[in-house]
Amino acid sequence: MGYTGYRILRSWVTDPHCVREDLLHLQELLGATDICGLTELGAQQHDIVTGYSDWSSSYDEASNPFVELCYGSSLIVDAWTPTADETRVLDVGIGTGTGVPVDRPGVMWVGVDLNRDMLNVLSRRDIPVTVIQGDALALPFADASFDLLRCGFLLSHLPALEPVLHELARVLRPGGRLEIVDIHAHAIYTGAQGIYRTRTGGLGYVPVFPHLVSDHLKAAASSALVVRNVEEIRWPQEAQTSLGLIARNSVKTARPVVQSGEPALLQVSSRTTRE
Ligand SMILES: C[S@@+](CC[C@H](N)C(=O)[O-])C[C@H]1O[C@@H](n2cnc3c(N)ncnc32)[C@H](O)[C@@H]1O
Repeated sequence: MGYTGYRILRSWVTDPHCVREDLLHLQELLGATDICGLTELGAQQHDIVTGYSDWSSSYDEASNPFVELCYGSSLIVDAWTPTADETRVLDVGIGTGTGVPVDRPGVMWVGVDLNRDMLNVLSRRDIPVTVIQGDALALPFADASFDLLRCGFLLSHLPALEPVLHELARVLRPGGRLEIVDIHAHAIYTGAQGIYRTRTGGLGYVPVFPHLVSDHLKAAASSALVVRNVEEIRWPQEAQTSLGLIARNSVKTARPVVQSGEPALLQVSSRTTRE
């Protein structure tokens, strides 16, 4: 039963067929009639463009514990703030602009994102950012155009780190700084996905891929980046409640799906080594 429960935890979003089978098996073992009162199980998978177009209208409103933990963390906010000599900032996968400070005199802030609908939401907000639709894998900028690159919750959507880190390093000036934050691989291995409530009221998800710390170190080394700092940010005590809300959306229970202290976010700070 423990093994089956663990399998359900890992695939409750991505594999509803397997989860239903497992639940029926548990139900049979327990001699129960309906162990979960399931009305909704699993979520529809979407690609980046279709998924984020659908998600864009609710992205800022719906509670997202990973995003809240990130932008509520002074560790991350401090690292992500441009220093006095960083006046050209690029936010890659900027989405709706969560975490972009409104007041930053003397800084040119550019945001790039693949998804036009996410950028449209950002454009309606009162944040002075130049937005450009584009792909992080082929950025529409000359080499060495920026002093600081910020990259929040983007890399987990990409199956491999090397191509994107290579491209990010290209647009950074020599000695420029790259700040990455994303869902920790541990959370993805235990069932976290880019899940959201669709406009038609169902559940959708945009898949995420786990990248280990060692994957980041190897990809940075092959992209002329030197990693200066790595932080693994843990779920605080209150996280049990907020993640319970996610679980409740899909399976009708409010049980916590993580323990406080488990790794939630990975933050990687690097600099270019190119001259
Ligand atoms: C989870 S959202 C993060 C938005 C924002 N950075 C934040 O912290 O809330 C991920 C964003 O990455 C964008 N994205 C995904 N793949 C991309 C790619 N290859 N190039 C540019 N943007 C991409 C998506 O469109 C989406 O807006």
